[in-house]
Amino acid sequence: MKAIILAGGSGTRLAPMTAAISKQLLPVYDKPMLYYPLSTLMMAGIRDYLIISTPRDVPLIQQLLSDGARLGIRISYAVQDAPRGIAEALIIGEAFAAGEPVCLMLGDNVFFGHKMIEPLSAACANATGATVFAYYVRDPERYGVVSFDAAGRPTSLMEKPSMPASNWAVTGVYVYDGQAASIAKSLTPSARGEIEITDLNKVYLQQGALNVVKMGRGVAWLDTGTPESMLEAAQFIHVMEARQGLKIGCIEEIALRKKFVSPSALDALVAPYGNNAYGQYVRRVAEEITEQRA
Ligand code: TTP
Repeated sequence: MKAIILAGGSGTRLAPMTAAISKQLLPVYDKPMLYYPLSTLMMAGIRDYLIISTPRDVPLIQQLLSDGARLGIRISYAVQDAPRGIAEALIIGEAFAAGEPVCLMLGDNVFFGHKMIEPLSAACANATGATVFAYYVRDPERYGVVSFDAAGRPTSLMEKPSMPASNWAVTGVYVYDGQAASIAKSLTPSARGEIEITDLNKVYLQQGALNVVKMGRGVAWLDTGTPESMLEAAQFIHVMEARQGLKIGCIEEIALRKKFVSPSALDALVAPYGNNAYGQYVRRVAEEITEQRA
């Protein structure tokens, strides 16, 4: 399975923080926001990525992640020259997906919890139609909202409805079959001038091919769209990391644990960090893995 990470947009709610840099490069506690969605996808076993961002930010993201070789993954890059909608990522990524199923994830979605990884891996292993992941929220009117019939089948999808039919928000990770790019191309931009991901998902719903996985309380889906929610996300990561002494979203640790790289490649893996606390953490993980495998 390949994955597209969409990491552009205007980030207007976070201005002036986003005046000179994209939101996905801003820190969430001890690492750039982009590390979190990338770590989720790496935990699901994905090793082949296309990262899409603005003309301004693609070079910055390249500086951060390069071609992924250090992590035992492949990363290529593409530009979205204006924020014309999330579904446009599938059009930009059409040659990358090459008609095969693809996972699409938004670069500002931060998840915590293994109960997220298992269904995501399962959806990737058997990508028929479209699979979206729904999360119960207090304020569904801010999101795409999915409602269900008595048997639990999805019945409707609405983008930012003023009267939400349920509390189930559609999160920013999607798994599509090989048709997604051609469906995206057939969509008309909405009143706000965007090719809406909700409209794409509606086509799958109409075909009876939309799978909705409800994520339970064991998963945290953190908002990062506003200064307050970014601070809360950082606090959550800090509290969890301080309590356990384990990092959340450490892409180097995941590369080691998933055996994308061997502990013998440690020097390259920690090169960007020198001997700082982050680098020391990765070294500890590599030592522990080496001992376990000995
Ligand atoms: P949004 O939250 O809809 O928008 P935004 O991030 O630009 O922020 P704001 O509402 O404050 O202006 O976008 C969700 C994610 O998708 C986010 O990671 C940005 C990304 N995105 C793109 O990369 N291109 C796009 O055309 C759109 C609409 C979003």
